[in-house]
Amino acid sequence: MAYDTPKVPNDLSAFWMPFTANRQFKKNPRMFVSADGMYYKTSDGRDVLDGTAGLWCCNAGHNRPLITEAIAKQASELDYAPAFQMGHPKAFELASALRDMAPEPFEHVFFTNSGSESVETALKIALAYHRVRGEGTRTRLIGRERGYHGVNFGGISVGGIVNNRKFFGSLLTGVDHLPHTHLPDENAYTRGQPEHGAYLADDLERIVALHGGENIAAVIVEPMAGSTGVLMPPKGYLEKLRAICTKHGILLIFDEVITGFGRLGSNFATDHFGVMPDLITTAKGLTNGVIPMGAVLATSEIHDAFMSGPEEAIELFHGYTYSGNPIASAAGLATLQTYREDGLFENAASLADYWEDALHSLKGLPHVIDIRNMGLIGAIELSGIEGAPTKRAFDAFLQCYDKGLLIRTTGDIIALSPPLMINKAQIDELFGILGGVLKGLK
Ligand SMILES: Cc1ncc(COP(=O)(O)O)c(C=O)c1O
Repeated sequence: MAYDTPKVPNDLSAFWMPFTANRQFKKNPRMFVSADGMYYKTSDGRDVLDGTAGLWCCNAGHNRPLITEAIAKQASELDYAPAFQMGHPKAFELASALRDMAPEPFEHVFFTNSGSESVETALKIALAYHRVRGEGTRTRLIGRERGYHGVNFGGISVGGIVNNRKFFGSLLTGVDHLPHTHLPDENAYTRGQPEHGAYLADDLERIVALHGGENIAAVIVEPMAGSTGVLMPPKGYLEKLRAICTKHGILLIFDEVITGFGRLGSNFATDHFGVMPDLITTAKGLTNGVIPMGAVLATSEIHDAFMSGPEEAIELFHGYTYSGNPIASAAGLATLQTYREDGLFENAASLADYWEDALHSLKGLPHVIDIRNMGLIGAIELSGIEGAPTKRAFDAFLQCYDKGLLIRTTGDIIALSPPLMINKAQIDELFGILGGVLKGLK
């Protein structure tokens, strides 16, 4: 019997939707029923331009033939293979492909199923790495205010978004936070990296002085913070963090779940900024968002530290039932091939200036208090309505959706991150709709 579902379900109550105003949504649902290239199709038959690559993940656009064919073929050939003590070719091929596109020291890949799991994995690898080297006192972790590292306990502990933390108890112990890097008074309307704020990295020295560097395992930051509202690293900031971590033997983890796979016009933000961390977390664009998958990239120095002891002994007690799942691996390989063959990272790099000019042309519209950008990412910060924070940006989101554009909002910040296949006409369409909405926003 063919599997079929109605295009619009008549009962919305059972699905408890993630990060969604459930009651508001269910009164007036917004449903996508198909997608192709740069556009979604709604249940009422309208095209909606994807201004956010889904959730920062569909970097190659939608319904890409190589990816959908690879998934179908793999499902009919080898649907699943056990991830522990067994292998299948595609996971090894994908790991090698990732190694080949990553900066040189990153020779090894640990597969997960999401960005959140990549973060947990990287934090655990960092802790275990110090322990296997006989530096087991290094147990403390350092994150950053406003950081987003997914929603699992490690990630929300090192993360710095208050609503993602405050409902969930005492979290991990032994965590400190660096200050965030958003300095609106000094850096408003900056194009690319802001001039001011490198000194904020010096706070790491304060934390080291407080706890002793020998007790600190790792610092985790997004090289460019996405989900919190697009916060750029000030010039020199990442370099300083790197230097202080190296000085004290602390590992530096870059959470590249958003910045990986071409978002800044390069393979990884690590390449873009020329600052080398010790571990890189990825997900999202790895499979174009089509099948859940994440990966942690590790240097040989970290990986090799585990490769001692008897050969038949498991070296790292960590992994997931779906680590390197065959269908996800096939999707990953086809996604990387699509990026390469279509020159999508190059397209992102070549359109970055056009994107920047179009974005900054919204300066001066009502309620706009800051605009910032990098690669194919943009943010427009609005002043909040007194007593009703987030409402103004959410109204913009609803109006854009009605007019055929998907944007994303966090607080009163509008975040934009279109698929990397976008062209100039679509950039004009995007900012035409958004500009019109902002002009009329209450
Ligand atoms: C930097 C960063 N890390 C981790 C995550 C979590 O990823 P996921 O939602 O796949 O668990 C996200 C998601 O937006 C992210 O932006």
